[in-house]
Amino acid sequence: MAYAAFRSIGAYVPSKILSNEDLSKMVDTTDEWITKRTGIKERHIAAENEFTSDMGTKAAEIAIQRSGIDKSKIDMIICATISPDYFCMPSTATIISTKLGLGNVTAFDISAACTGFVYVLSIAKAFIESGMKKNVLIIGAEKLSSITDYTDRGTCILFGDGAGAALISATDNKTEAIIDVHTGADGTFADLLMTPNGGSGSMHDTLDQEAKSCFMQMKGNETFKVAVKTLTKDVVEILQDNNIDSSEIKHFVPHQANLRIIKAVGDALKLKEEQVVLTVEKYGNTSGASIPMAINDIYESGKLNAGELMLLDAFGGGLTWGSALVPFSPLK
Ligand SMILES: CC(C)(COP(=O)(O)OP(=O)(O)OC[C@H]1O[C@@H](n2cnc3c(N)ncnc32)[C@H](O)[C@@H]1OP(=O)(O)O)[C@@H](O)C(=O)NCCC(=O)NCCS
Repeated sequence: MAYAAFRSIGAYVPSKILSNEDLSKMVDTTDEWITKRTGIKERHIAAENEFTSDMGTKAAEIAIQRSGIDKSKIDMIICATISPDYFCMPSTATIISTKLGLGNVTAFDISAACTGFVYVLSIAKAFIESGMKKNVLIIGAEKLSSITDYTDRGTCILFGDGAGAALISATDNKTEAIIDVHTGADGTFADLLMTPNGGSGSMHDTLDQEAKSCFMQMKGNETFKVAVKTLTKDVVEILQDNNIDSSEIKHFVPHQANLRIIKAVGDALKLKEEQVVLTVEKYGNTSGASIPMAINDIYESGKLNAGELMLLDAFGGGLTWGSALVPFSPLK
């Protein structure tokens, strides 16, 4: 049987920084409030002519180069995004495949909001284990600034832009394989976090009158409570299912939404500070890109070594959630 191994990571962060100080000049807020309630100090914002596919391509190029796998061997690309270049078609994954100069590959996007990267990881694992694909490029890329309402202080302080990518490839060595991926969703909470307009479920007359409803809207406080509960439950289950103790986790990589959410989950799981990966302070919430950007951070700071076990944990609009037990298994 083929197993799926997590070979490499790459990320791209746009250069423009939007600080709390900058936001305090745009809406009624302060650096102190944002820092205390979210842990976020700044987020990066893509240039006007820089699209989700551009950021995804840059992250992918790094991941491919670090993998040591020739790009001609890639047979599938999946992009997790809620801010695609085009809302209907073509998919961002197909645009990225062309920008990367790849020929005939399977390419598609998935929509699972901030859980997107865990979802694409589960799809890559399944395709590889079934023998249908051998080298799958997974990407989380977001230009959330394009769907953020910068007059709404309840949301605009949270989100940023960026991309992360990983190469997942087939192996017959079980010790380097992704151990497990859990994914779930519950649409009864759909109204907590949504972009109410712009799709077939929206009224066209409202679209004309209320362009703002194409932007994200969120019930922050309720989302917060469900997030802590769901993230904790999901991690407890995946650890129990695989007989793994939380002390065996070298890097806990949660979705970077809010420092208080991450701390609450870390405390509930009795994780030590050095196990928990934090990037929310400098990138804010980059939705589907947040987990691969965080993995890239520990990789680039020399903290992620071959064989070390990562626990990924995500939660997002939908509502969706997911977790994964992933050893880092580079080829070289
Ligand atoms: C959005 C969030 C930071 C708000 O923090 P909170 O502590 O829940 O704050 P509340 O929404 O209860 O609002 C408290 C007060 O602060 C105000 N407030 C909201 N945003 C503010 C801001 N940016 N600056 C200053 N005050 C603000 C509210 O208007 C409210 O004022 P009131 O008491 O006079 O009515 C927090 O709920 C959160 O992070 N939720 C999770 C969001 C998330 O992670 N979403 C993505 C999931 S993937």
